[in-house]
Amino acid sequence: MKALILVGGFGTRLRPLTLKHPKPLVEFANKPMILHQIEALKAIGVTEVVLAINYKPEEMMNFLKDFDTKLDIKITCSQETEPLGTAGPLALARDKLIDDSGEPFFVLNSDVISEYPLKLMIEFHRAHGGEASIMVTKVDEPSKYGVVVMEESTGKVKRFVEKPKAFVGNNINAGIYLLNQSVVDRIELKPTSIEKEVFPKIAAENKLYAMALPGFWMDIGQPMDYIAGLRLYLDSLRKKSPSKLAIGPHIVGNVLVDETAEIGEGCLVGPDVAVGPGCVVESGARLSSCSLMSGVTIKKHACISSSIIGWSSTVGQGTRLEKTVLGEAVHVKTSLEGVVYVCDDFYSNGGAVFPDREMESSNLKPESNV
Ligand code: GDD
Ligand code: MG
Repeated sequence: MKALILVGGFGTRLRPLTLKHPKPLVEFANKPMILHQIEALKAIGVTEVVLAINYKPEEMMNFLKDFDTKLDIKITCSQETEPLGTAGPLALARDKLIDDSGEPFFVLNSDVISEYPLKLMIEFHRAHGGEASIMVTKVDEPSKYGVVVMEESTGKVKRFVEKPKAFVGNNINAGIYLLNQSVVDRIELKPTSIEKEVFPKIAAENKLYAMALPGFWMDIGQPMDYIAGLRLYLDSLRKKSPSKLAIGPHIVGNVLVDETAEIGEGCLVGPDVAVGPGCVVESGARLSSCSLMSGVTIKKHACISSSIIGWSSTVGQGTRLEKTVLGEAVHVKTSLEGVVYVCDDFYSNGGAVFPDREMESSNLKPESNV
């Protein structure tokens, strides 16, 4: 069985992390996002993964070159010369996807995280006999997703509306599809949206079916959702493989600490924290709801919450960061004793710091009354 992962897109909503690295290589729970997906595909018997790429292909292929052998799965690349959207890449990869086996293939958005119940999806697809299956999940705020109106008893999709302006329902497209090879024949080799141009047509022919995704789900392509997704992922890990979570006097709740990271005396780490490879968290630091990418140093008594700290960055002694995304190699210098700084908006210049910067923490948005 084969799969195609849509790894194009510029990842603008996850800047500044995506300024230096393609979004699928941004670490989530101490592992590049795309590895979570490739491992899940491998686990259910997928033998070849096609990466539909249009942005920074060299870095991606360079990173993945050893994984074919490590994971024993064929990884190939289908490279666009212009962005082909979410359907055009299927037409471009036609020769890789269509073969004599006649088997359906998976398509995944690269930024969705879940328990990937792909085996169940194969069973669902076989049972309904339609042309395409999509996974759906329920959310409170559906307007930023594709909304699916379906017959609850059979899953038959009546309507698919991408990013609706008015409320149509709260079952949304989870970005995980299983498609018959015939779907490729519906797509021309030009920029095309699977959500706007392909699914509505298949639905109109009563051949599109939706399956409710069991377990958690999140599109982690935006900072706030990335942090919410980390909490859900760690909750799920607690239930499925609790031994992977850190334990100890300084750990609170669900925390993942890479074995090469160091945590100093008197720290309080958690809940919902991922500390990546080679990180150093010095004594007395406090971390909650945050992710430290590899090589980050948190100096003594710094306090970080609801934040993502990019590769090899340093947060100075006593500095407090909240709702902040630091790009790669940002060095926030030690704050003055007794002064506390809070960046309270991910999207303001203060809340998202571009890579390769050195800055006084007073350059971040100060909130003196904390
Ligand atoms: N190869 C390639 N080329 N990939 C692309 C391109 C392109 O031109 N444009 C986007 N992609 C990839 C992105 O990298 C991502 O993996 C996927 O297609 C979806 O793009 P996003 O930009 O993340 O879309 P979205 O999050 O706004 O909406 C999509 O995902 C939601 C679920 O998270 C839609 O599929 C919605 O219907 C869905 O609900
Ligand atoms: Mg997305």
